Amino acid sequence: MADLPPSLATLLSRHSLGGKHLGEPGPDDEALRLMAEVALRAPDHTGLVPFRFKVVRGAARERMAALFEQAALAAGKDATEARIDAERALRPPVTVAVVARIDMGHPIVPAHEQWAAVGGAIANFLNAAHALGFAGKMLSGHKVRQPAIQAAFCEAGETLVGWISLGTPVREPAPGHAKAGVGEVLSEWR
Ligand SMILES: Cc1cc2nc3c(=O)[nH]c(=O)nc-3n(C[C@H](O)[C@H](O)[C@H](O)COP(=O)(O)O)c2cc1C
Repeated sequence: MADLPPSLATLLSRHSLGGKHLGEPGPDDEALRLMAEVALRAPDHTGLVPFRFKVVRGAARERMAALFEQAALAAGKDATEARIDAERALRPPVTVAVVARIDMGHPIVPAHEQWAAVGGAIANFLNAAHALGFAGKMLSGHKVRQPAIQAAFCEAGETLVGWISLGTPVREPAPGHAKAGVGEVLSEWR
């Protein structure tokens, strides 16, 4: 398209960037509020809002690092590997935990529709971060199933989806994952 709307150019240029490529500053309160507001624009059948974002920054990063280190040791990693896991919590200026609350018995909205809303919220959150000049990456891993970590982030019945690392990109994007071609996802139904 010759005249691509700037908003689409922004969406088309989003890419993930891991913690070691994220520097200060991270998003401040106003930016985080905007990102959450954009997440709330994601399609959500009957408006269940089946997600929560929990911001980890400042001194809370040390507490999350300690949790990550303990979880790694509990999973059988040695002290050096556990310390690397802890560093992952400390590196990004801001981390946002993504928590899902899926109502398995909802009379109208089945679980898969609620998960779709969670995915839409994550995508919108990351797109908003990118539009504001930040970069980040959604990560999960074995840690999300570790009971002490789940207990630290979730209320009863909630699921820890993972964490979005956020900060200012300190390097240009490298070629990322090859994306599927449009032809693989778009076709005529007859
Ligand atoms: C819920 C969720 C969890 C993810 N967990 C991981 C993870 O643990 N490790 C990882 O390398 N990528 C993970 N990813 C994928 C990355 O966030 C990222 O999308 C992927 O590396 C592709 O990069 P791109 O976003 O630039 O296309 C996860 C994505 C989602 C949506």
